[in-house]
Amino acid sequence: MALFKVAVLEGDGIGPEVVSSALRVLKKIGELSGVDFVFEKALIGGSAIDQKGTPLPQETVELCLNAHAVLLGAVGGPKWDGLPTDKRPERGLLGIRKALDLYANLRPAKVYEPLIKASPLKEEVVRGTDFIVVRELTGDVYYGEPRGIFYENGKRVGINTMKYTEDEIRRVVRKAFEVARLRRKKLTSVDKSNVLEVSGLWKEVVEEVAREYPDVELEHLYVDNCAMQIVRRPSSFDVIVTGNIFGDILSDEAAVITGSLGMLPSASLGDKYALYEPVHGSAPDIAGKGIANPIATILSAGMMLRYSFGLTKESDILERAIELVLERGYRTPDIYSEGCKRVSTEEMTELIIRTLEELWQ
Ligand code: NAD
Ligand code: IPM
Ligand code: MN
Repeated sequence: MALFKVAVLEGDGIGPEVVSSALRVLKKIGELSGVDFVFEKALIGGSAIDQKGTPLPQETVELCLNAHAVLLGAVGGPKWDGLPTDKRPERGLLGIRKALDLYANLRPAKVYEPLIKASPLKEEVVRGTDFIVVRELTGDVYYGEPRGIFYENGKRVGINTMKYTEDEIRRVVRKAFEVARLRRKKLTSVDKSNVLEVSGLWKEVVEEVAREYPDVELEHLYVDNCAMQIVRRPSSFDVIVTGNIFGDILSDEAAVITGSLGMLPSASLGDKYALYEPVHGSAPDIAGKGIANPIATILSAGMMLRYSFGLTKESDILERAIELVLERGYRTPDIYSEGCKRVSTEEMTELIIRTLEELWQ
C-alpha cells in the first residue's frame, strides 16, 4: 500500500477548523482508494509564538523537510498584530516558503456555475472563468534587502527592496509556461515595466523563455491594467504569471470574483518540496464560530493528491464531489445566496465525504 507522509501545520484562527475538515476528507479518500496517509502536526504562526516563542520552530522545518507534502491552514490574528514585523506569525509562513524553496505558487480561480450568483460580478461577465495565477513566492519586496525602518536626518524612512535575479524569474516563468501547456496554452505575464527596472528584467526574461514555448501564446500586461482586465474580462485569462507582491494582490482579486475567498486553494511548489494551503487567511472575525468555508482547504488537499502524489483520479472525484454538493444547494454563509441551504463547516465537510462515497463506485 502506498504511504504518504503529510506534515500538517494548522496555524491560527480558522486554520485548525478548515484543516481538520481537509484531514477528514483525505482520510476518507485513503480508505476508499487504499492509500495510507500519515499526518504529523507541528506548530506555525501565532500558536508557535505562544508555545515556543517563535513563529517557525526548527522542529516544524525538520518535519516538513522529511514529509512528502505539507498542508497548511492559515496564520496570524489580532493577538499578534502589535509585534514588530520580524516577529509576527506571518514570518513563519514566509520562513517555511523560503526553507522549502517553494518558488511557484499556483492559485487557480475557477467559477463554479452553481456559485455564479455569489460573485460580485455580473453573471455574463464571470461565466466560464477558469484561470490560474502563478505567483513567484520566494523573492521580490517580501525578501529583498535592505529592509527596515531607518532614520535619515532625524526623520524615519521605511525601506523595502524589490529585487529579482534572472534565475529566479526564469524558473517560475518556465513553470508557468509548463502549466499553460497543460491547459489552453495562453500565458499573460504581468509587470510594471513602464516604471520599474526589476519589471524590465522580468519582461526580458519572459521573452527569452518564450522562445522555448512557441506553442504557447504570450501577452504582457501592466499590473494596474491587469487588475482592471480581471474584473472586465476574467474568462479570457488562462495562466497569469507574475512576481510575489503583484501576485498576492491579483490572486485575492481573482478569488473574490469566483464567489468567496473561502473557495480558493493553492499549491506552492519548488523542485523538491510542496506545500498546499488555502489562499485565505485566518479570518479572525469568524474563527471559533464553526461557519468557515472548508472548501479552499479541501481543494488544496485535492491539489496535493494531484501534484504531489499523482492521484489524479482521486483528485478529479474530489473536485466533482464538491461541485455536486454545491449543485445540490448547500452553502456555508460566505457563499450563501437566496434559496440555498445554509450549512456549517462541519455539515459541509460531512456532505463532501458522503458525496465522495456516493461517487466512488
Ligand atoms: P482573511 O483572508 O483572513 O479574511 C478576509 C475576509 O474573508 C474575512 O471577512 C473572512 O471572514 C473571510 N474569509 C476568509 N476565509 C474564509 C473562509 N474560509 N470562509 C469564510 N469566510 C472567509 O484576510 P485578513 O482579514 O486580511 O487577514 C486576517 C489574518 O490572516 C491576518 O493576520 C493576515 O496576516 C493573515 N493572513 C494569513 C494568510 C495565510 O496564512 N496564508 C493569508 C492572508 C492573510
Ligand atoms: C498570502 C498571504 C501572505 C502573503 C501573508 C500572510 C504573509 O497574504 O498567502 O497570500 O502575503 O504571501
Ligand atoms: Mn495574500
